Amino acid sequence: MGGIPRHIGIIMDGNGRWAEKRNKKRSYGHKAGSENVQKIAEHAFTRGVEVVTLYAFSSENWARPKGEVEELMHLLGDYLKKLAAKAVKNGIKINVLGRKDRLSAKLNKIVAEQTAKTSGGKRILNILIDYGGRGELVHAMNALVESGETVTEENIGKHLYTAGMPDPDLIIRTGGEVRLSNFLLYQAAYAELYFTDVLWPDFDEAELDKALENFASRERRYGKIEC
Ligand code: IPE
Ligand code: IPE
Ligand code: MG
Repeated sequence: MGGIPRHIGIIMDGNGRWAEKRNKKRSYGHKAGSENVQKIAEHAFTRGVEVVTLYAFSSENWARPKGEVEELMHLLGDYLKKLAAKAVKNGIKINVLGRKDRLSAKLNKIVAEQTAKTSGGKRILNILIDYGGRGELVHAMNALVESGETVTEENIGKHLYTAGMPDPDLIIRTGGEVRLSNFLLYQAAYAELYFTDVLWPDFDEAELDKALENFASRERRYGKIEC
């Protein structure tokens, strides 16, 4: 049976609808969502998870209205600072994964400073910003071509942003949509998928425990006929 996942990925969806239900602007939902990150990551680590990967901003999210993108970028910088301060105390290493070339110089500076502070942490919190699974594969393939290495599963894995980390065992998506939206496409090969209608700002510790219980009951066969 599943036990405790080593690596959980979360597609944090539903912030906009959470705000709209309260007759507030979408940015209000993003703020509430960002405040949920710390709590859920900490809870996962308390349960024994080693790696938590959170989808914060997809490469496709640039297509949103300029004002929303700006608000999200601002919020990302803010919450990285808060997360990093706690992470240092709690032995958590924060990585920001994704393309860096389209982020503002200001945000890149915050990312570099804040992640460096946490470099001694043992448990890993990956925050995906300007991330897309296909883009990540293109990046990995280009690195392989440049280095002249042969194309093997192992070599591809070495050039993914998640190099050296276990693949996600469990992928959770909040907000009711049943799709991956370009999240960890290669690494998700054998992940258990868990979808919930709960909107991200409402996804609390008890909801994470439900997902973990559900995961624990899954039989992971990896193509065989019994575990
Ligand atoms: C997820 O919430 C946050 C990001 C994608 C940045 P949404 O903003 O997608 O919220 P909904 O899906 O519109 O409710
Ligand atoms: C996925 O949510 C991206 C993040 C949670 C960062 P979206 O709201 O962007 O996904 P779609 O558009 O519904 O597929
Ligand atoms: Mg959404």
